[in-house]
Parts: sequence; C-alpha cells; structure tokens
Amino acid sequence: MKENKFLTLAIESSCDETSVAVLADGRQVLSNIISSQIDIHTAFGGVVPEIASRHHLQNMNTVINQALTEAGVTLDDIDLIGVTYGPGLVGALLMGVATAKAIAFAKDIPLVGVNHMHGHISANFIQYPELEPPFMSLIVSGGHTNIVEMSDYGECRVLGGTRDDAVGEAYDKVARVLGLGYPGGPKIDKIAKAGDPQAIQFKRVFLEKGSKDFSFSGLKTAVLNYINTERQAGREINVADVAASFQAAVIEVIVKKAVDAAVEMKKDKLVLAGGVAANSRLRADLDKACREKGIKLYVPSPVLCTDNGAMIGCAAYYKYMKYGPDSLELDAFPGLEI
Ligand code: KG4
Ligand code: ZN
Repeated sequence: MKENKFLTLAIESSCDETSVAVLADGRQVLSNIISSQIDIHTAFGGVVPEIASRHHLQNMNTVINQALTEAGVTLDDIDLIGVTYGPGLVGALLMGVATAKAIAFAKDIPLVGVNHMHGHISANFIQYPELEPPFMSLIVSGGHTNIVEMSDYGECRVLGGTRDDAVGEAYDKVARVLGLGYPGGPKIDKIAKAGDPQAIQFKRVFLEKGSKDFSFSGLKTAVLNYINTERQAGREINVADVAASFQAAVIEVIVKKAVDAAVEMKKDKLVLAGGVAANSRLRADLDKACREKGIKLYVPSPVLCTDNGAMIGCAAYYKYMKYGPDSLELDAFPGLEI
C-alpha cells in the first residue's frame, strides 16, 4: 500500500548480485531482493564479467517483480527509479541502467543514477534512522578502500585510498592461495576465528606519516611468500593461523587510519561501509578503537554491507531530493570515482 509515502524502486547490478528494492521515504525498506550469482562464479574462482551480464539479463524481471510483490505495490505506485551507474563491470552495469531507463520512460517516472560507493555509505542511513551527515566514512569493498569525509548527503571528499589492491581484493586473493575458494572474505573471517593472529608477524604498512592512503599488495605478497616457503620446506600450513595473522595485519592498519582521520578532522561519527564491513574482527576492533576515542561507530547489518538494492534506493532518494532527476541519456560509467 502506498499511503502517501514517496516510493523508490532501486536496481543494483554492478557486479555479481542482481538486486532490486522498494523503499518508502528514502530509509524504510519495503523489500530488498538479492539474487546472488556467487555459486555460478565460484567454479571460476572469481566473477566472469560476461556470465555476470547474462545472469543479470535472465534474472532482472523476476527480481523486479518479487521486489514489487513483497512491497505490496505496482509500478504505478513508484515515484522514483534509482539505479547504480558506476563504478562496476560495464556489461553488468548496463543491464541495470537499460532496465531502469526503460521503466522510467514507459511509466514516466523520474530516474536517478547512483554512485555505487555512495550507496554503500547510505546503507547506514537505513540501519540508523537518526544518522545525518557530516561524518567520516571508511569504505572497504572488493574494489575500493577509502577514507571519505561526507559533509552532506551525496557530498563526499576522498581523503585517502588504496595505492594498489582493495581490502576485499586482498582477502579474496589470499583466500584463493589458501584454497578457501571464492569469495574469500567471509571464508577468512570464519576460519580466522580458530587461528592465532600473532602466529605470523606480517608487516603493518602505514606508508608515510599522516598518510590516509593504503597499500595491501606487499602484505599479499608476504603471505604468498610465507605459504610457498613453508610448502617448499615440507611443513604443513596452519590455514587458520595464516588467515588470522593476515587479517590482523590488514585490520590494525585500516582501524588506526580511519580513527586517526576522524580525530584529525574533528568528526565524532565514523561510518563503516562496503562488503568487508561484514567482517566480524573489523567490526569488533573498530568498535573498541572508536570507544577509546569517544567516536560513535555506525555499522550496517551484514546484508546491507554487501551489494544490495536498498542502499542504492536510499542514495537515489537523497540525490533526487537535492538535485532532481537525471536525463534518460544516463549511461553506465565503469570507472566512476566517489
Ligand atoms: O561491497 P561488495 O559486496 O562488492 C563491491 O562493491 O566490491 O564487496 C565484496 C567484497 C569481497 O571482496 C568479499 O570477499 C568481501 O567484500 N567480504 C568480506 C566479508 N564479506 C564480504 N571480507 C571480509 N570479511 C567478510 N565477512
Ligand atoms: Zn559494492
């Protein structure tokens, strides 16, 4: 039922999840259907772009219908269409953008293109109805690692980013060499609980003093070298210890840099975003570090951390309220910056 609420239908298809959500008044999730292709891509050890596009095409209409049905509305009730237009895989993005444009045109509904990374941050607006900018945000996903200052809805200033691998990418690569499969983040998170984070002292890479940038490729190489050396020496690898030690080295750095940035920029709110935000150790360590500095930490529930339509719908709502609709010329932009 519409009941005078402003309804947004949002489509997310930037990588390997086809997701469609319906939101009321920007923050209330009426439905958030996520059709994951993880099982399909697992066989290849990572996302295969062409296969991802094909599955978005096959699933899109079903997922849209499920989202509308679960929300108890029809397209005639929808006030705004939001869609991820970048960053992401071009073919995958195009599936969502083309679908959103077709609906917007056919039903004469305003259209808004959403930056996927703004979507990740917006997951927190859904989780915490009272949360308002300004705040500091740590974005940790499969493709991005950034410290961002959000001064207002949709107004982001990047203070630091990774110079090589993203955190999620490092997790996925280390998991692969440990034989844990794809996607590696959740697998490392789980197995690390049984390991000793002090077992192997991997170097913590902080870069230059005061830098808010990151570098994880050296750590990734150090883990690979450790595994190769142990294997060549005929020693058995304790996978849980390697996972826990790798994770400890990553998390110590990102927690310190994010909290230092919040203190430096005099922000009393820190917002965690992106798929790696689902990581249990990161959540626990960041919580502790924030408490020590009197910073309030905001963390979305795990389902809102990884890619989903609801976070895109929330970001679309605020963008539309501030800037109005985009034109139907909207195109996919795979390299879109935050
Ligand atoms: O944000 P996301 O769903 O997609 C991108 O926008 O990239 O993030 C996916 C990334 C993958 O690298 C995955 O391994 C990682 O998030 N991830 C995790 C966890 N859950 C997902 N990494 C560590 N611990 C987790 N529990
Ligand atoms: Zn994402």
